[in-house]
Amino acid sequence: MILVTGGAGFIGSNFVLDWLAQCDEPVLNLDALTYAGNLRNLASLQGDGRHVFVHGDIGDRALVERLLAEHRPRAIVHFAAESHVDRSIHGPAAFVKTNVEGTFALLEAARGHWGTLDGDARSSFRFLHVSTDEVYGSLGPRDAAFTEEHAYRPNSPYSASKAASDHLVRAWHHTYGLPVVTTNCSNNYGPYQFPEKLIPLMIVNALAGQPLPVYGDGMQVRDWLYVGDHCSGIRAVLERGRIGETYNIGGWNEKPNRDIVATICALLDELRPDPAGPHARLVTHVSDRPGHDRRYAIDARKIERELGWRPAETFDSGIRKTLRWYLDHPQWVAEVRSGAYRDWLATNYARR
Ligand code: NAD
Ligand code: DAU
Repeated sequence: MILVTGGAGFIGSNFVLDWLAQCDEPVLNLDALTYAGNLRNLASLQGDGRHVFVHGDIGDRALVERLLAEHRPRAIVHFAAESHVDRSIHGPAAFVKTNVEGTFALLEAARGHWGTLDGDARSSFRFLHVSTDEVYGSLGPRDAAFTEEHAYRPNSPYSASKAASDHLVRAWHHTYGLPVVTTNCSNNYGPYQFPEKLIPLMIVNALAGQPLPVYGDGMQVRDWLYVGDHCSGIRAVLERGRIGETYNIGGWNEKPNRDIVATICALLDELRPDPAGPHARLVTHVSDRPGHDRRYAIDARKIERELGWRPAETFDSGIRKTLRWYLDHPQWVAEVRSGAYRDWLATNYARR
């Protein structure tokens, strides 16, 4: 089996669902169920013996050691993290705790487990660390896209904590020989994304007739990738990636935020017209994110050259699928928008 951390979050749950749709190898899913973890994402796996869910923290070394000894996974795919830049600005401590200290604890437990393996089990074991393009910092309008050789220049508490975790993973390979691979991916979108991130926030606000808050001039550029493509990239790296290497994963799809919001509004006008008028009437420019990175872009040629991976979705196909998913799952949306989510909206948007 494989151990997945953070498998109740956005990308982790998509990964677990895709994995079990494609093979019968069981998944041990360790997730602390923070505000971002949601077992409803995995409801279709209820009663499926191939999925074993454990509610727990990656920083709980005794728990992780026990799970590794009991289940003896052949690989760890590490998604668990605090993942939202705006939250890292309001409260960086949780980011250091989970992303840095949690990854450290997981690496130490993995090193202990790997030390007990021999033969094929030892040589085929992998620790796959899921990271982000934000560790490379911000690009100017004409700079070349990030390659794996780009210097680390993280600018937010989130990206600094992810950069620190990448460095730990690298060092555990270099010093102890732990068979690691790291992926650095661009912005994901798709089903089950918590509506604190740009695309789902705009969709659920537009559906509720609420303002669509665009930070600053809205000309910040991100490289958008459909989540299913990120999952297939991770599977390729897990199967065929070279030990100790990093692989950038991206969508070849750079777009300014303003265009993303305009596309969502136009598609909603087509799929769910609002009698009050075009959804674009709700766009509201608000004050910018402190330290806002202007542009990210991934050069994904290494993963294509070495592993034959390319995204399957275009932005047009991916965003349509995503919108349809949110339109078809009003109950999921209503549940995640209740309770603590409202406190977050007040914290992040009330004084903008
Ligand atoms: P998410 O916030 O939706 O999910 C994170 C999951 O981790 C949640 O289920 C949460 O409960 C769990 N978790 C948090 N702290 C934990 C802990 N201490 N122990 C165990 N579980 C814990 O995040 P996401 O968007 O799915 O991102 C997953 C990973 O991919 C992260 O490492 C993130 O840095 C990386 N990444 C995300 C994107 C993106 O666009 N979302 C892009 C590139 C890389
Ligand atoms: O690049 C990969 C990263 O992408 C991941 O590592 C992170 O986990 C993920 O959260 C994401 O980070 P961003 O900060 O780029 O994503 P977010 O969806 O928060 O914002 C995308 C852009 O939209 C960014 O320029 C900020 C802007 N934005 C965001 C929100 C929430 C707005 O203009 N208004 C908003 O309300």
